[in-house]
Amino acid sequence: MVKIDPFEVDHWILTRSAGVKHNLAHSYCSAISINDLASATGDCNNETENVWSSVFAQPMSYGPMKGSAALRSRIAALLYSDPSAEPLSIENIVTTPGGSLANFLVLFALLGPGDHVVVQYPTYQQLYSLPAAIGAEVSLWKAHQEDGWRLDLDELRKLIRPNTKMIALNNPVNPTGAALSRATLEEIVKIAREHSIIILSDEVYYPLFHSVSPTPPSIISLGYDKVVATSALSKAYSLAGLRVGWIASRDPSIIDLCVNSRSYALITMSRVDEHLASLALSPPTVQHLLDRNNTLSKRNLQVVQDFINQHSSTCQWVQPVGAPIGFVKFEKDGKPINDVEFCTKLLEKKSVLLVPGSKCFGDGNEFQGYVRLGFGEETEHLKASLNAVHEFLEEEYGNLPVF
Ligand SMILES: Cc1ncc(COP(=O)(O)O)c(C=O)c1O
Repeated sequence: MVKIDPFEVDHWILTRSAGVKHNLAHSYCSAISINDLASATGDCNNETENVWSSVFAQPMSYGPMKGSAALRSRIAALLYSDPSAEPLSIENIVTTPGGSLANFLVLFALLGPGDHVVVQYPTYQQLYSLPAAIGAEVSLWKAHQEDGWRLDLDELRKLIRPNTKMIALNNPVNPTGAALSRATLEEIVKIAREHSIIILSDEVYYPLFHSVSPTPPSIISLGYDKVVATSALSKAYSLAGLRVGWIASRDPSIIDLCVNSRSYALITMSRVDEHLASLALSPPTVQHLLDRNNTLSKRNLQVVQDFINQHSSTCQWVQPVGAPIGFVKFEKDGKPINDVEFCTKLLEKKSVLLVPGSKCFGDGNEFQGYVRLGFGEETEHLKASLNAVHEFLEEEYGNLPVF
């Protein structure tokens, strides 16, 4: 049996979300319904009256081997259309049920025992626990809050070994909301190219860089073939429930390996999901969704910043620039608060769900005192949730244990 660590962040959220009044644990922009999607498509497009009839008309045979051609061409043309880069073809894209399966298939297809992987850290646990479960050696490339969560390229150079097969990135970064700039990505590509290392970039929050300019490109646009990007409609497009994601690579051998592992896991995607996803990515619906979520994230970022300013003796963060999430550090008397106790009591007393950093993004010792706060909710809900946290701090903070 493969030995695999418990997936802490997912377990934490999914075992606690039911009936919660204030959910600040989510990492996506306020979800829309299929009706909202149909009306957005309707407002923007003429294809619209037919949204429902076109869904009902889908043949219920298996779908195509790499996924729906209509969806893949929209992903290739709209999402990876950097004018400075070679256009992508639909042959460079494979669809998957969500970003997590995209990552799973890439890691499963490309790694094995004896391979070494350098993984940016902190990040989504899947990117380091899954390679370890597959038998790869994992080195964490650590960013620190004191450096504004910037990654040190010299450190990356030192981590590379003769058997380094992959560098795994996440941009924008979960849980910090930091971004890897174009210059940093270019340096990483340079280092990877020198050693012929594959880069996996989990771009599940891309292109939601709400507070940085210029916005970093997708890793796909940087002219190195041994790159694979994963993404999904879950976060920046508010459609987590559709479970549609994808893998993109310019290297046909990487795509072929991923298609092979995809066949073992799912044969093909749900045609209904792919059809709806293709509507979501039809222009200008996709622009409408991205504009909505950029505006929402920017506005809500300020709401959280106001909260942090008001409680500056208790908590601080490096202001996120991408994704509707941030990593907030709570301290008492100069010591990190016990973040697991903090989140547990906050849920019990005020029905607010946050994610404890040391449990879900560290090993118990790293990221003590941190919580991940998602601010992709509707603004009025976010304000009400932060108000409940404020009351909790007033009433209970003094009694909470520290590390
Ligand atoms: C960095 C990162 N990658 C992948 C995923 C999974 O995405 P999906 O919900 O599309 O499976 C998440 C979900 O939180 C994430 O944060």
